[in-house]
Amino acid sequence: MIPEKTGPAAVIVLAAGAGTRMKSRTPKILHEIGGRSMVGHALLAARSINPRQLAVVVRHERDLVARHLADVDPAAVIVDQDDIPGTGRAVEVALQALDAEQNLTGTVVVTYGDVPLLSGGLLAELVATHERDANAVTVLTAVLDDASGYGRILRGDDGTVTGIREHKDASDAERLIREVNSGIYAFDAAVLRDALAHVTTDNSQGEKYLTDVLALARRAGGRVAAVVTADRWQVEGANDRVQLAALGAELNRRIVEAWMRAGVTVVDPSTTWIDASVTLDEDVRILPNTQLHGATSVARDAVVGPDTTLTDVTIGEGAKVVRTHGSGAFIGPDAAVGPFTYLRPGTVLGESGKIGAFYETKNVRIGRGSKLSHLGYAGDAEIGEDTNIGCGNITANYDGEKKHRTVIGSGVRTGSNTVFVAPVTVGDGAYSGAGAVIRKDVPAGALAVTVAAQRNTEGWVQANRPGTRSAELAQAATTNSSSTPASTEEGKQ
Ligand code: UD1
Ligand code: MG
Repeated sequence: MIPEKTGPAAVIVLAAGAGTRMKSRTPKILHEIGGRSMVGHALLAARSINPRQLAVVVRHERDLVARHLADVDPAAVIVDQDDIPGTGRAVEVALQALDAEQNLTGTVVVTYGDVPLLSGGLLAELVATHERDANAVTVLTAVLDDASGYGRILRGDDGTVTGIREHKDASDAERLIREVNSGIYAFDAAVLRDALAHVTTDNSQGEKYLTDVLALARRAGGRVAAVVTADRWQVEGANDRVQLAALGAELNRRIVEAWMRAGVTVVDPSTTWIDASVTLDEDVRILPNTQLHGATSVARDAVVGPDTTLTDVTIGEGAKVVRTHGSGAFIGPDAAVGPFTYLRPGTVLGESGKIGAFYETKNVRIGRGSKLSHLGYAGDAEIGEDTNIGCGNITANYDGEKKHRTVIGSGVRTGSNTVFVAPVTVGDGAYSGAGAVIRKDVPAGALAVTVAAQRNTEGWVQANRPGTRSAELAQAATTNSSSTPASTEEGKQ
């Protein structure tokens, strides 16, 4: 049997830092872009290269971070960093934890929890180069216009990497170097273990620097090399909210571009925001100012937007969703929603159904071809097929303490402003008159009317509101009506 192809021995994700510059009660790596925490992105990239083990080093807000990790990657090994500061110490404690049963052999990759755009592809390339060239250390680097703050890559006359100098420890000449350390590396496990045992805290920050491993590995006779990426976004970390927004915008640009290349029309990429977790079919059209979040999925030929925000919404083939705010809803094929519609969780709209303008829905199942076209609320309800709910209908589902269900059959026609006082059931093919307040069940085929017959008291306004403009106009209209009836045309609307 051919053994299953596996990736490196381990990936260690560093996530112990405090992230002070975020000025946030939320740990830095839990801040989100593209609908996913930064560390969530880092873990997906790490997982994509199939490491045999995956460890995350934590310290700052350890419990909050650990709880989040248990959600996004329950198999990740959580390792606590001790009081000794520095990236070298972080990797050392992780290695000790992973070595506990048996010393790791082979490739150990180190990444950061706050570098969200790093792709699995670039990590795989780093590992492939490292293993092909039998390197002791391979560091991912980038050449930046402004390298300040970063560790600089030191190279010998022949161009080989000789070490890394931290900005704070660098000479003026070294600070002119524009090739920087991304902090992402592939190490040979044995080299890493041996070198870390020799790393000291003898530097301007009093930390155990992981970067010191490069010079130590070289001194021990190992090959040290770099993979230089031209894509600086993939190695960029977010230290404050300005960088977080810039990374979020770039991630979104990449996601939107990938969908366009996959056959989705995006009319205005700059105002379209799509989470990393959203799925879209070919020939979907996204109109401007649309945000798609969470587990939202859109099937072929559907049109979404403009001005629409959807979270965890499933849209069927050919459906149209215009100016809508929705979450937790299912919209059937060829259905229509909007404009100005608020879909709340549990809304299920059947094939070719409609939820029109100024409607709010919640926990309602609407059958095939049924229409709730304008102005109303439908909650805790079940509506059959080919039913037409008139303008301004409301399910009065809340008695002040409990919620109750409304069940409306198929082929029903309700008059404008019908109120269903739940719990109540309306049979198939029933009708209701305008303004009906349905408190009792309506049998199939019945017409429910609850409003008293209209009574007109002629001349009431002239008698009770004398001298008003209304009275004046009423008087004029009644006087004229015998000679020129057309003059009241406008009032007939
Ligand atoms: C580090 C590198 C630097 C590189 C830069 C890239 C070292 C000594 N320096 O610098 O060469 O250019 O990253 O961004 O490695 N962390 C821990 N435990 C710690 C300290 C840090 O887990 O004790 C984690 C942080 O959470 C963060 C990462 O390691 O994810 C980097 O830490 P940071 O303090 O940002 O390192 P830099 O000084 O920026
Ligand atoms: Mg940093």
